[in-house]
Amino acid sequence: MTTPLFELRSVTCRYPAHPGAAPRTVLDGLDFAFAPQMRAGLIGPNGCGKTTLFNVIMGLTRPDHGEMRFKGAPVATAEDLRNLRRGLGLLFQNSDDQLFNPTVLEDVAFGPLNLGLTPRQARERAAETLDLLGLSGFEERITHKLSGGEKKLVALATILAMRPEALLLDEPTNDLDPATRGRLIGILGNLDVALFVISHDLDFLSQTTSGTFSMKNGRIENRTMAVHTHAHVHAHGDMPHVHGNGVHPTGDHAEGVPHEHAHAHAHDGEHAHAPAADSANEPEPR
Ligand SMILES: Nc1ncnc2c1ncn2[C@@H]1O[C@H](COP(=O)(O)OP(=O)(O)O)[C@@H](O)[C@H]1O
Ligand SMILES: [Mg+2]
Repeated sequence: MTTPLFELRSVTCRYPAHPGAAPRTVLDGLDFAFAPQMRAGLIGPNGCGKTTLFNVIMGLTRPDHGEMRFKGAPVATAEDLRNLRRGLGLLFQNSDDQLFNPTVLEDVAFGPLNLGLTPRQARERAAETLDLLGLSGFEERITHKLSGGEKKLVALATILAMRPEALLLDEPTNDLDPATRGRLIGILGNLDVALFVISHDLDFLSQTTSGTFSMKNGRIENRTMAVHTHAHVHAHGDMPHVHGNGVHPTGDHAEGVPHEHAHAHAHDGEHAHAPAADSANEPEPR
């Protein structure tokens, strides 16, 4: 078996309680192995511990028990942590947590400078990365004056400038308009990196990953789920709902009209769906 890119072994994470309450266990003996090249989603209800998991992976939160391993070895020393953070890039849910330099160029060159590139090399790396994301000309823009979508792409540039092996994206489409969301899908489709994406946006997951894990009771369920598009027949009444091709705010379908949705569901039983949509989206072998 190939060595996982990273692996969590029996990780437990508790948060201090409010006065008088018991500590809350957020991650509870969680085991997980992420294969190199994997592109996977992570779903689970708000507050179930997804961001905490990313923080543990990145060494930003120390688990109460268990260990995080990177490329087959425990992350023990400061040097190990540097290697880990060179290999894995975390895109924070809130871009303001990621961007802290006055200008875009300084923010994107910051990581490469930290990796030991010369100022000139770091500037070149930053310019190259901005170009890759269609952000040429943004170099001298003032970071805090960018729109939310621009900040998200610049934040992605700060990570990509380090040439990571995997990206961890924490709810990347939450506050994106449809055009920027589409751009992000296009960018991720062209990148040769592994992806681990927390999202409630199942259509985004179906377009960027090939399988989805779900978190429950402080653990990752030990199976991969496929996210893919099905043809369905069901009624919506007046419920807002989401399709592969956009949001239908008022459920404007006649009852029983077949149409397509992105869904996540387990493949441990027999099921059928529209043949064309599925073949490119089989889960990663585990
Ligand atoms: N630093 C913290 N201190 C105390 N509680 C926290 C902290 N961070 C997160 N939590 C709590 O832990 C739970 C899991 O949070 P989080 O990992 O952010 O969940 P998710 O990303 O799945 O929404 C939530 O109940 C949250 O309020
Ligand atoms: Mg979160």
